[in-house]
Amino acid sequence: PVAKKAKIGHLEPLRGQRVKVSGWVHRLRSQKDIIFIVLREGTGYLQCVLSGNVAQTYEALTLTLESTVLLVGTLQPVPEGKTAPGGHELVVDFWKVLGGAPGGDEAFTNRLNEKSDPSIMADLRHLVLRGETASAVLKLRAALMSSFRESLVSHDLLEVTPPCLVQTQVEGGATLFKFNYYGQDAYLTQSSQLYLETCLPSLGDVFCVQESFRAENSHTRRHLSEYTHLEAELAFIDFNDLMTHIEAIICETVDKLLANPTTAGLIKQLNPNFTAPARPFLRMSYVDAIAWLNEHGIQHEAEDAEGNVVKDEQGNAKMVDHAVGDDIAEAAERRMTDILGVPMFLYGFPAELKSFYMKRMPREEAHGGHLFTESCDLLMPGVGEIVGGSMRMTGQDELLAAYKKEGIDPAPYYWFTDQRKYGTCEHGGYGLGVERFLAWLANRFTVRECALYPRWPGRATP
Ligand code: 4AD
Ligand code: MG
Repeated sequence: PVAKKAKIGHLEPLRGQRVKVSGWVHRLRSQKDIIFIVLREGTGYLQCVLSGNVAQTYEALTLTLESTVLLVGTLQPVPEGKTAPGGHELVVDFWKVLGGAPGGDEAFTNRLNEKSDPSIMADLRHLVLRGETASAVLKLRAALMSSFRESLVSHDLLEVTPPCLVQTQVEGGATLFKFNYYGQDAYLTQSSQLYLETCLPSLGDVFCVQESFRAENSHTRRHLSEYTHLEAELAFIDFNDLMTHIEAIICETVDKLLANPTTAGLIKQLNPNFTAPARPFLRMSYVDAIAWLNEHGIQHEAEDAEGNVVKDEQGNAKMVDHAVGDDIAEAAERRMTDILGVPMFLYGFPAELKSFYMKRMPREEAHGGHLFTESCDLLMPGVGEIVGGSMRMTGQDELLAAYKKEGIDPAPYYWFTDQRKYGTCEHGGYGLGVERFLAWLANRFTVRECALYPRWPGRATP
């Protein structure tokens, strides 16, 4: 009978029939006159058995890992007592090599090299992606993006695509990538927030999935120079609504992933101990967090007036308690979430630590000379901040004063300022770092494992 061309992931209904599949040789094992191949293509893995004449050819004896092959045969349930992906195997009666591979060097797939030099791994990212772990992370990422979109749409948010090439900053001039745009200065976007705000009057609540760029010289487990930024903006809400919404989107997205057997399987493979977080998330104010850090003896490096770390005679950084007004650095944040072990909102940061556009809390809340903002970061165990959000200033004069304080020329922001002129409204939004979220979900050590081709200081290849 004529063989039916099929994808590995859709073989189940074809059991007992002749099928034709193509893919890469993922594993290879020879036993006397039998050759076992685990064939790989995007939809899955398939065990294939070559025996008799088809195993005795020159091509069969010289077959190498990562070669591409076409295989034709009968799909049979695996013999009792044995296991194979999908519970079936292909008993091959005809096959050919489509493209050979050098072979011998298994370092070119991640099976052997997970422990090898990270810079070599980074250079070979295109081959590392062929490994079971890297590809599982990217498959989970795809499912995560769809689930996020479904959750956001079910909350009546509309997807838009803001530009990457911009002439305004959002999160501070220090981390802008600047370039020459037909003779003018322009930047790679840090955040699409300002554009999302302009959509509210016509499109209602909106979201986008866009690359954001940060020229941060941070070599950490959670910083990339380019990352996928999921951002949303909602009108006629208050600060409490904002946090409740973020919580709902995250929990609904995770629930969808766990309800689907394929994605639940990927999560189990990558993060066997994962459990869906309970609602409501813990909420702790910035001021309480400072006290909590001090009660738990978590200190930070002392800095002088110029912002340099103060060192003792042995060259060790001098450690000091936190005070209201201090930034909660990555290390302290991580220790806090590791001790608490659950997702938590940190909210109400001092205005001087946060971006210019954030809504101030009422003056009565101020103390020790600090004004606070309606801002929140969502922190996850093992990663720290995965979401940054806030309510936005609604008054034009207040915004103009904020530009001035930040040293921003208001001219290029005319369109953003106009939002306050033509029917302002209470609104707020947030940005979620997709790679950080995935690092939490899939229990990855670094966000570098969570991007297809990660970019960090000094790296823009492959
Ligand atoms: O806290 P951020 O800077 O907030 C904003 O950009 C807001 N304008 C978003 C908004 O309100 N629409 O960034 C938001 C999130 C962070 O919580 C983090 O998850 C991620 O973006 N992020 C990064 N991820 C990887 N590498 C970096 N360098 C990142 N910088 C921020
Ligand atoms: Mg932030």
